Amino acid sequence: MCKIKINAAVFLIVLKMFLVATSAFEETCEFDREMEKKCRIHYYKTVKPLLDYFRQVRNELEDKEIKENKLNELNSDLMEKYHEIVRIHEKFMKEATLLDEYKNKVLKGENDLQLSQNKVEKLESKIKSQKQIIDKLTPISKLYDKCKKEVADKTSSLESSEVQLKQLNFSLLEKDENIRRLNANIEKITEQQQTLKLHLDESQNMSIKKNKDNQICRPEIDTLNKTLPNIVIPTNCSPFGDYPGVHQVNVSGVGLFDVLCDSQLAGPGWIVIQQRVGGNEDFNRDWATYRKGFGSFESDFFLGLEKIHRITSLKRTELFIHLVDVYKTVYFARYDDFKISDEDNGYALSLGTFSGAFILDGMRSSENIKFTTFDRNNDSARNNCAAQYESGWWYNNCYYCNLNAPYGPNLHWLGTTMSDMKLKEVKMLIRPERSDEEVIN
Ligand SMILES: *[C@@H]1O[C@H](CO)[C@@H](O)[C@H](O)[C@H]1NC(C)=O
Ligand SMILES: *[C@@H]1O[C@H](CO)[C@@H](O)[C@H](O)[C@H]1NC(C)=O
Ligand SMILES: *[C@@H]1O[C@H](CO)[C@@H](O)[C@H](O)[C@H]1NC(C)=O
Ligand SMILES: *[C@@H]1O[C@H](CO)[C@@H](O)[C@H](O)[C@H]1NC(C)=O
Ligand SMILES: *[C@@H]1O[C@H](CO)[C@@H](O)[C@H](O)[C@H]1NC(C)=O
Repeated sequence: MCKIKINAAVFLIVLKMFLVATSAFEETCEFDREMEKKCRIHYYKTVKPLLDYFRQVRNELEDKEIKENKLNELNSDLMEKYHEIVRIHEKFMKEATLLDEYKNKVLKGENDLQLSQNKVEKLESKIKSQKQIIDKLTPISKLYDKCKKEVADKTSSLESSEVQLKQLNFSLLEKDENIRRLNANIEKITEQQQTLKLHLDESQNMSIKKNKDNQICRPEIDTLNKTLPNIVIPTNCSPFGDYPGVHQVNVSGVGLFDVLCDSQLAGPGWIVIQQRVGGNEDFNRDWATYRKGFGSFESDFFLGLEKIHRITSLKRTELFIHLVDVYKTVYFARYDDFKISDEDNGYALSLGTFSGAFILDGMRSSENIKFTTFDRNNDSARNNCAAQYESGWWYNNCYYCNLNAPYGPNLHWLGTTMSDMKLKEVKMLIRPERSDEEVIN
């Protein structure tokens, strides 16, 4: 293209020169025409082809210029078009890229869609299989519910059984405890039995030994018994003045029997015929029992009407009554000729003279009065005083004092103000009245 341009420029210079020449030529054309007519004949033959050529060339050049301008126009047009095409191309390229991207996106989306679809399919198949499992499980679940109900029923019955079991266990434990206690008792008793057996063995051994000793001593005793005068068993406690306690006496009509001897309350040698110290003994007894006597020397007792009658029949006897009231004040009453008659006369009472300090002669109203029990009424009251006052006594129209009354308000003695001294301890003691001689000795 450039080569063409240079050649074209050179060509254009030559062409201008020619045009200048020709124009000058034309100015003088009228002249020339003459010349020409003259020359034509001369030069025509040589110059004409050249001039034609120039003309041709000029035409061609003009053509070419036009064409070149056109070409340039076309060129710039082409360039514009080219640029446009380039732009379009760029745009197209851009759009193609975008399209690619979009396509990729679409592809990716398709891919994702496929994946999702696969997943959905997988999930669907899973759901299907789970549904099948659920379908399979439904009867099992029903069975489970049934079982659950049965278990609940069983559990409740088990619970009630447990409660029963606990109760049984508890009573069993109680029984065990009882058995344990009984066993302990048995062990204790067994121990006691063993100690008792041991004691018994010892006693047996001792008695065997004593028997042996007795056998050894027998001849000596016999000789002594023969040589010595017979030992007399006393009729009262006088010989045991220095040895109070339980001793044997021999009284005609009753024979041998034990008495409690007292040497503390009023001097030595007293027989205790009645005693109230503990309140354990029942004094509401019938005639026969009062006749015979009852109770224990260790606590409360009554010696017996027949014995008292027999003793008091032997010698003149004094009665000493020891009294302690509920305030622990000690009193005494004394009668110097105490005696009771025989049974046929109802063991009637005789007293003799009263003496005492700070108390009245409470038994006087019983003087010459027969003994009364709930089963033998010899009192002068309308009712049976013994039954009414729950004890046997020498009741007149009942009493001022009743030393056999049950513990409580009825056991009392007549106080100095004629009011009742409530008693909590009573003892009746007898001994033969001593002659002046005896007292001196
Ligand atoms: C019975 O009770 C005892 C003590 O409370 C307990 O140790 C034991 O386990 C119980 N037995 C039963 C069968 O409940
Ligand atoms: C009693 O005597 C026998 C033999 O005579 C003896 O074996 C036993 O141990 C004695 N018992 C007591 C308690 O002393
Ligand atoms: C002594 O002899 C009398 C009669 O001879 C008899 O009754 C009495 O039991 C004897 N006493 C003793 C301790 O043996
Ligand atoms: C008891 O006394 C009587 C007399 O009253 C007498 O005959 C009898 O032998 C005495 N008994 C004893 C064991 O001393
Ligand atoms: C004592 O009273 C009874 C009736 O209770 C009577 O049979 C008996 O003869 C009376 N005794 C005396 C000695 O009066």
